[in-house]
Amino acid sequence: MGIGSMVDQTENPTKYLGNELKYIKKVLNSENWSATTGSWNQALEQAFSKKIGTNYAVAMNSGTSTLHAALEAVGVGPGDEVISPALTVIMDSTATFHANAVPVYADINPDTFTIDPKDIERKITQKTKAIIPVSLYGLPPDYDPILKIAKKHNLAVIEDNAQCFLSTYKGRMTGTIGHMASYSFENTKHISCGEGGILITDDERLAETARKIGGHGFKNLKASEGRVRLNQDVFQNPHYKRHDTLGWNYRLSEFNAAIAIAQLERLDTLVRMRVETAEIFMDVMKDCDYLIPQKTPKGYTNSYYTLGVIYKGLENIGVSWEDFRKAYINAGGDGIYGAWAVPYTEPVIAQRKFISRCPAVYKDIGYPPHLCPVAEKIQPLLMQFKTNYRDKGLAKKKAEILCRIIDKFSSR
Ligand SMILES: Cc1ncc(COP(=O)(O)O)c(C=O)c1O
Repeated sequence: MGIGSMVDQTENPTKYLGNELKYIKKVLNSENWSATTGSWNQALEQAFSKKIGTNYAVAMNSGTSTLHAALEAVGVGPGDEVISPALTVIMDSTATFHANAVPVYADINPDTFTIDPKDIERKITQKTKAIIPVSLYGLPPDYDPILKIAKKHNLAVIEDNAQCFLSTYKGRMTGTIGHMASYSFENTKHISCGEGGILITDDERLAETARKIGGHGFKNLKASEGRVRLNQDVFQNPHYKRHDTLGWNYRLSEFNAAIAIAQLERLDTLVRMRVETAEIFMDVMKDCDYLIPQKTPKGYTNSYYTLGVIYKGLENIGVSWEDFRKAYINAGGDGIYGAWAVPYTEPVIAQRKFISRCPAVYKDIGYPPHLCPVAEKIQPLLMQFKTNYRDKGLAKKKAEILCRIIDKFSSR
């Protein structure tokens, strides 16, 4: 019996409905399982950049690798400051630490939950080099003032679109707004290949630099070519020098690239299903004064990675966050997720566990509480409702359950 028989074999035939298996078999049957020689990565990059509307794409093994490579590509280095929102996952901070740079947190808008441009301006110092605006839950932040601030202070803007595929901001496609944009293909994202990510940009120099940073610094890598294609006589010569950039291995395997292509083929459908689910749930919440969905301002579209809702039930009906969640689950609803803690309250940052990686940079850096009061107030109230139902009927059924719970608590 093979080792594979020990692995959990639970199947979910509704999760992957496209060409995933067909493409994986093609990779298996080829001799090229790595991006160094195969062509699936390049096909993914071309298709993804075309879909979003940029000149270049560089596929990598995660949406954190892409953020790190992007930061270094735009010139962020030791001691530089990078501004990211106080309400997001920790990876915007860890990618910053990975560049030996210093995360600086800007507060959020209480209605949209995305970064507040006014607080960005307040947090700028002589050391600020870049801003990572995050499209939280699929909603783009207010880019116009962010771009204005960036221009004024000569800062790079790296869109973190890990949770945001095909959302638009005032008619512009997200991913085409900043200097670079980063996406994740981790399991929960709109499209997934297990683990993976992609960076996009219009700037040839940034694409080439990021690719080298993610590709061992091979000097032959190009903005639109991740394979090291060389004359064998040159490449096999002992005097040949290969590396002109300090780089890591952030390459995506050909298997992952093939799956990502199959998912990309269905991106419109997968986004639409999440949006429709969010709309069904928001309809149920529309007359409820204690479930307040993330506000999508006029002129924006939201791709609803998840439906973020402020829960005011304790205040309005005397029911705690935990009890409301339990009541929904007990009635057949799905688990409601809380929002990740504000990054600088996580032990790794609050307890300054980052100092040892570069004491010269970090010895005086610390993050006291109350740096971003709006984010700290909203984070414990947030509920994230699942939107990735593959079947609209099931989404409706869950929303009906939520409706019954709301009615039950309202009629007490
Ligand atoms: C907003 C955001 N940024 C970055 C990441 C990091 O992506 P990955 O898990 O692919 O490293 C994620 C996903 O987990 C995310 O949600």
